[in-house]
Amino acid sequence: MGELVLRNVEKTYGDGPKVIHGIDLHVPDGQFTAFVGPSGCGKSTMLRMIAGLESVSAGDILIDGVRVNDLQPRDRGISMVFQNYALYPHMSVAENMGFSLRLSGASKAEIKHAVGRAAEILQINHLLDRKPRALSGGQRQRVAIGRAIVRKPRIFLFDEPLSNLDAALRVQTRIELAKLHRELGTTMIYVTHDQVEAMTLGQKIVVFNKGYIEQVGAPLDLYARPANLFVGGFLGSPKMNFLPGRLVAHRDTQSVIELTGCNERITLKARAACDVGAELTVGVRPEQLAAVTPGLGIGANVEIVEHLGDVSILHACLTGSNQTVSVRVDGTASNLDVGSPIGLALTVSAVNLFDSDGYAIAIANETQAVAATL
Ligand SMILES: Nc1ncnc2c1ncn2[C@@H]1O[C@H](COP(=O)(O)OP(=O)(O)OP(=O)(O)O)[C@@H](O)[C@H]1O
Ligand SMILES: [Mg+2]
Repeated sequence: MGELVLRNVEKTYGDGPKVIHGIDLHVPDGQFTAFVGPSGCGKSTMLRMIAGLESVSAGDILIDGVRVNDLQPRDRGISMVFQNYALYPHMSVAENMGFSLRLSGASKAEIKHAVGRAAEILQINHLLDRKPRALSGGQRQRVAIGRAIVRKPRIFLFDEPLSNLDAALRVQTRIELAKLHRELGTTMIYVTHDQVEAMTLGQKIVVFNKGYIEQVGAPLDLYARPANLFVGGFLGSPKMNFLPGRLVAHRDTQSVIELTGCNERITLKARAACDVGAELTVGVRPEQLAAVTPGLGIGANVEIVEHLGDVSILHACLTGSNQTVSVRVDGTASNLDVGSPIGLALTVSAVNLFDSDGYAIAIANETQAVAATL
């Protein structure tokens, strides 16, 4: 078992400002949950409170129904893997991995079995006799994860464990972690500021910002329907485009929105839950814009093209405004050079609307909404 409940958890360091503001969260047993958010938003602080490495200023932390606020880290049934994995340099890989079991008085045979099993899962059997200095960064990180596995925790806590690895190794280790979770079925909480890591690993994502939770949900739900501008802008690369607009009319089940930056109108084939005249922001993902023949759609000029191979990202300035949008196009698309005029067609059915406070506006009949013409 490894169910985690956070109830109104707060943290203040010394007499400084509050850095965690009343966090409520339920992580069911066996779930891979990613904490994501910008630097300084409180992810590590929250994780360290769960681990017992930081005191809790207010609220309750429960593991499998038991309040653990006052329990020592070793009594909480958790294992933590840090970015800086700090292996003991004078011990072999096997000794490093078995160290915590040795401390807890396990027999040599038990330790050998647990270390062997973890090494098998992580495919590091051939490294067991080496010292950490004779390992690559990726191998060391696997040893650190192995050290966490042998303790058979109820919950794994990871704090940016892949940040020291190069890009290719990060992707590979990410896949290994996902497999590890499938194999062990143990609850994992994974802190990262990298939204791609959070999206690909997390069954559930918790988006933190300034010590608050902005939104909790499945990765694709958060991507498709962010609760606010912060989440819309944080998840996705390039980020969601935000176009200023105003609701100009409701017509039966439709809503007409004027994009105020470029004097264009779009018609939603669904009703937006806001009043005529309301100022709003239209959130459009780069893949919801398509480059079409100049003269059609919203007029724009290509400013920068990023060729990524399979896709290209156009950064285009809307005609009559100084607003730049990013557009994801096929990598083989031609005639999209810097300076060329283009038209931009919008997949209206997929846009997100945000009110003047930055919160998502509900769109009725969403499932029936289909792309409307400009
Ligand atoms: N030991 C400490 N004493 C005082 N303030 C701290 C301490 N540790 C963290 N903080 C502050 O708490 C806030 C949250 O920090 P935290 O390390 O939890 O952020 P984070 O989301 O993990 O950021 P990063 O992505 O950079 O690791 C920050 O404002 C930070 O300056
Ligand atoms: Mg951190």
